[in-house]
Amino acid sequence: MIKMAEMRAEGGPLRKCAVDLQEMAVKPFTMVIFGGAGDLTMRKLMPGLIHLFEDGELAAGFSVLSFGLPEMDDGSYRDNILGALKQFDLTPSGENWKAFSENLHYLPSSFDDDAGYEKLCRRIEEISVRDESGRTNLIFYMAVPADVMPMIVTKLKLYNLCKGPHNSRIVVEKPFGQDLKSAVELNRILTGAFDECQIFRIDHYLSKEPVRNILFFRFSNFIFEQIWNRNYVDNIQITVAEEIGIEYRAWFYERTGVVRDMVQNHVLQLLGLIAMEPPVGFSADYVRDEKTKVFNAVRIFEDGDIDRHCVRGQYGPGMIREAKAAGYRQEKDVDQASLQNTFFAASFYVDNMRWAGVPFFVRTGKRLARRITEICIEFKQLPLRLFGHPAQGDIEPNILIFTIQPDEKISLRFGVKYPYSVDEIFPVNMVFGYRDDFKMPARPDYEGLLLDCIKGDLSLFVRQDQVEAMWSIVDPVIARWERVPPKDFPNYSAGSWGPREAQTLIEEAGRRWLTT
Ligand code: BG6
Repeated sequence: MIKMAEMRAEGGPLRKCAVDLQEMAVKPFTMVIFGGAGDLTMRKLMPGLIHLFEDGELAAGFSVLSFGLPEMDDGSYRDNILGALKQFDLTPSGENWKAFSENLHYLPSSFDDDAGYEKLCRRIEEISVRDESGRTNLIFYMAVPADVMPMIVTKLKLYNLCKGPHNSRIVVEKPFGQDLKSAVELNRILTGAFDECQIFRIDHYLSKEPVRNILFFRFSNFIFEQIWNRNYVDNIQITVAEEIGIEYRAWFYERTGVVRDMVQNHVLQLLGLIAMEPPVGFSADYVRDEKTKVFNAVRIFEDGDIDRHCVRGQYGPGMIREAKAAGYRQEKDVDQASLQNTFFAASFYVDNMRWAGVPFFVRTGKRLARRITEICIEFKQLPLRLFGHPAQGDIEPNILIFTIQPDEKISLRFGVKYPYSVDEIFPVNMVFGYRDDFKMPARPDYEGLLLDCIKGDLSLFVRQDQVEAMWSIVDPVIARWERVPPKDFPNYSAGSWGPREAQTLIEEAGRRWLTT
């Protein structure tokens, strides 16, 4: 452990990014998307931007300039975007599309071509609307594979686009490295060109509206905050279950696996929001400080404890929604003897005063029984049983459930008297749902974080010390599993809830998975 701590970013405390939330407004901006013709732009960024536009959030003025290959002109680029929006059933009205698409531009260039960056500087001058202070607000969005990013950052620095005359931000997608060491190195490159306050490391789970709601729910309701600790909470469960397999991404998944892909980031970020202390205020570093403290308090497993606390799995063939699903090793471009993990479960512990002794059971995997992301807070049982017996099964404790997807709701489970009975208790739910209560769906993924970035609000972007603390948690697990190969892969069928050991893990602790 000491070794890992030593590897962390040098330079003492991270520079604080003090921004007053009230002063944040959408100013005119130019977003330069590296890899702007790629999948992420088509699936997530453009739908997010057009929705913000339709909501009137971009009224101050904006331009999008996509940088990359293949060769095309503005007109063809706009046609491609419209085609993609239609494919995802997001066709804007003719009028909206016309007004929006006038702001889309394309600059064909490879990422290492100096001539391309010279043109980029000129195009930025031509298309950018300056803000009231006369500055250009630039957002560089890295929608590119991680290995290309260092080169782009170096070029941006060379062409004085990082600090210089502009107000620049850079948005970086995960993975933030492959382990602690490479994350530190990646950060060295980024901070060689940008300040920490300019770096927006995006975890798209933090863009999901029900995830963003966790802090509001926790810190604006008196009744829950009182019982949010080891005195009242028996255990916490986080399930991030996917029905899909690896789709067309074998090249990525074969060298990544579930721990790097899902646990180091999305799962731990959810844990951080549930476990963190109230921040002093809601500006970025207050929030980020508290989350970092949680990651630093998560117990790091000794090599000998990993098998007891963690379960790994890989899916074999099975059935999902009555259709046959191939096993991982049968997926296109996957090694037929691959030992890559597609499932992870663990009992984590947050060793601080609030959570000492409370297990955090987490699990995530591909090709599971259904797509659901849920966080369950299971409260302790009453010390005394006053009423006779439950109408069915055991008496259930109170459970608070954040359902993040595909439904978006918060439910509280409690017992009531079963009608006409004398002393039978029956569990029921009190539910808040986005669609029922607000008559609207939650905001789509990415949109919230895009807007935060445009405004300059870093609260829900991942700070480097979090990145490093999260790697410190998972690195020993990855290292052990790479050293000691699994003997039983594939060990769960597509369409199941994962390997049997994931049940045993929680049952041996005297609990059961609440998400089914
Ligand atoms: C991504 C992972 O970060 O999250 C994918 O790389 C995964 O493997 C995806 O499928 C899940 O996101 P969501 O929003 O569909 O739950």
